[in-house]
Amino acid sequence: MDERLVSSEAGTQEEYMELSLRPQTLSQYIGQDKVKENLKVFIEAAKIRHETLDHVLLYGPPGLGKTTLATIIANEMGVQIRTTSGPAIERPGDLAAILTALEPGDVLFIDEIHRLQRSIEEVLYAAMEDFCLDIVIGKGPSAKSVRLDLPPFTLIGATTRVGLLTAPLRDRFGVLSRLEYYHEQQLADIVQRTAEILEIGIEFDGALEIARRSRGTPRVANRLLRRVRDFAQVNGVQTITTQLAVDALEKLQVDKLGLDHIDHKLLLGIIEKYRGGPVGIDTISATIGEESHTIEDVYEPYLLQIGFLQRTPRGRVVTDLVYRHFHMEVPKHD
Ligand SMILES: Nc1ncnc2c1ncn2[C@@H]1O[C@H](COP(=O)(O)OP(=O)(O)OP(=O)(O)O)[C@@H](O)[C@H]1O
Ligand SMILES: [Mg+2]
Repeated sequence: MDERLVSSEAGTQEEYMELSLRPQTLSQYIGQDKVKENLKVFIEAAKIRHETLDHVLLYGPPGLGKTTLATIIANEMGVQIRTTSGPAIERPGDLAAILTALEPGDVLFIDEIHRLQRSIEEVLYAAMEDFCLDIVIGKGPSAKSVRLDLPPFTLIGATTRVGLLTAPLRDRFGVLSRLEYYHEQQLADIVQRTAEILEIGIEFDGALEIARRSRGTPRVANRLLRRVRDFAQVNGVQTITTQLAVDALEKLQVDKLGLDHIDHKLLLGIIEKYRGGPVGIDTISATIGEESHTIEDVYEPYLLQIGFLQRTPRGRVVTDLVYRHFHMEVPKHD
């Protein structure tokens, strides 16, 4: 995958770096107020009843804090978290091994849960619903099905593609929480919090400059901060001033809305070659030399989110906002 500065996906080494930046409690978790409020109630109620928390599905674009929130939920419940992912569970036996090793009350976190195989998903149904496991021992005519009791546990599933989840799986989650893109102010708070952990000062307006270019995504905000910090340290300063932030971001070629050269290529390509569209995704793909699924999964979501692109039955269309962003004349619409 690409290692774009503004990519919402984690880079190769980034996950380790992110560990130290992860908030540990709900109160340290900035933004997502609705999700937090609900979870707080469910967690407290479960604790009062001495029950496990209902299964939770967290969904939303990459880098918004799903994994972080799963860890926080386990912390707040005072239980252990066991982490795995959809593609990592290859056989029903793998899932059985994980489930039988859980302690009562534990959280099992399955990342990328939409990538679970069907046969494994089916094992999960009974585990989620009745805390039991039906396994087949042996092969052929002598095969026997045995039912194993499991400790009560909370499944937390995370996915960027909730639409790919089968209905029976989705329906077995008691709590469905959608994470939203963050506001500028919240991202600025996240930048300031991270700066404190990294032991570098930052002016609030400097944090806002970074926030504005972070595409609504904490992961991007933290990454931009780390790069801007490089500029500060090379210049031998202890505090990132607003001016330093602006200059550094300029050098990093991230524009005022967090768009980089790939976004520019895509948007300008549609304008210059197709008069702003509509143009089909496969044509765009051929024009800019990127796979269409990469465009759909990685490049497009933010451009759709900020209203720069629209999806129509006849293809993608750039909006007037794009012309204004590039200081181009807005074409007359007929
Ligand atoms: N609400 C928040 N407050 C502070 N920091 C946050 C918040 N949400 C996310 N972060 C930071 O952003 C980084 C990315 O978050 P996280 O790994 O939880 O995202 P994710 O949704 O699991 O992404 P992916 O879909 O790629 O797995 C973390 O290092 C974390 O420090
Ligand atoms: Mg994650």
